Amino acid sequence: MIAARAGLAALAAAGTLATTLPAAQAEGTVNIYSYRQPFLIQPLLDAFTEKTGIETEVLFLDKGLEDRIAAEGSNSPADVILTVDIGRLMNAKEKGITQTVEDETVNSEIPSEFRDPEGHWFGVTTRGRVVYASKERVEQDTITYEELADPKWKGKICMRSGQHNYNIALFASMIAHHGEEKAEEWMKGLKANLARKPSGNDRAQAQAIYAGECDLGIGNTYYVGLMINNEKEPEQKDWAASMKVLFPNSEDRGTHVNISGMAMAKHAPNRDNALELMRFLGSSEAQSIYAETNYEYPVLPGATVSETVQSFGKIKPDSLPLAEIAKNRKAASEMVDRVGLDDGPAS
Ligand SMILES: [Fe+2]
Repeated sequence: MIAARAGLAALAAAGTLATTLPAAQAEGTVNIYSYRQPFLIQPLLDAFTEKTGIETEVLFLDKGLEDRIAAEGSNSPADVILTVDIGRLMNAKEKGITQTVEDETVNSEIPSEFRDPEGHWFGVTTRGRVVYASKERVEQDTITYEELADPKWKGKICMRSGQHNYNIALFASMIAHHGEEKAEEWMKGLKANLARKPSGNDRAQAQAIYAGECDLGIGNTYYVGLMINNEKEPEQKDWAASMKVLFPNSEDRGTHVNISGMAMAKHAPNRDNALELMRFLGSSEAQSIYAETNYEYPVLPGATVSETVQSFGKIKPDSLPLAEIAKNRKAASEMVDRVGLDDGPAS
């Protein structure tokens, strides 16, 4: 199976995938194009094959996945697309490389706020966009996104680029809840409170808290789990130990969450098997495996959350449908430029 998988990737890299379709179309196979890393999805796929007898072939890409499927056109062997972030899922739909799935099982597993109303994409797991706070220097245990614009945090907040998908979705949710004008005022306040020019990834913000460069950072929940248990780079354990997770707006509308998700490829040659896989990914069995491997939250209500994630505290997700929030992504991106968020606090 591993050899077959490597074969698919090698052929795809050589651009010859479309001419080698027969093997990929064999009965009992499902072809997955994935932005999610192999170590994250392999335990799930093994469980799927064991349960259904359907073999999986994975093409992992870290960029250009949508363009590849579009270029392959109706010859594309892609059945299921696995990716992260609402921005990428919307982009896949807009590019016309997905198809509608109307399935009772899938729809009963995945809450409506985490799937496309037209069935083009479905959330598989959620991740909260939370506030990392210094244990040493921040006393409070609650916070709101709105409060990040309060001058009391002047020079105290660190974040990655405002144009990153994770922040764009957060800002889009601020627009959805407050309207553009108020959201822009808020963003100006956030900019004024930055400790430095937005840079690095989410984990770099935890590192900056550890180093005393800032008191608050904005980051996704799963990175905290990845840092706590990082045997490869144990210094990350210290970063995580220096901070606590604050779930913004727990006492009102809830914390902004984003999703990892799946979509059925438009020309899926193995549609039935693809549907089986999508049903499986929404099942409690798969949800628990996924959530455990990457410290995400299962999208299925009531599915098990890993102990590490439970240790952060309880999340109350914002219940506004993600599709509604995502409509404001473009406005959010333009706002980041207009406000000059990525220029940092001084300009
Ligand atoms: Fe991430």
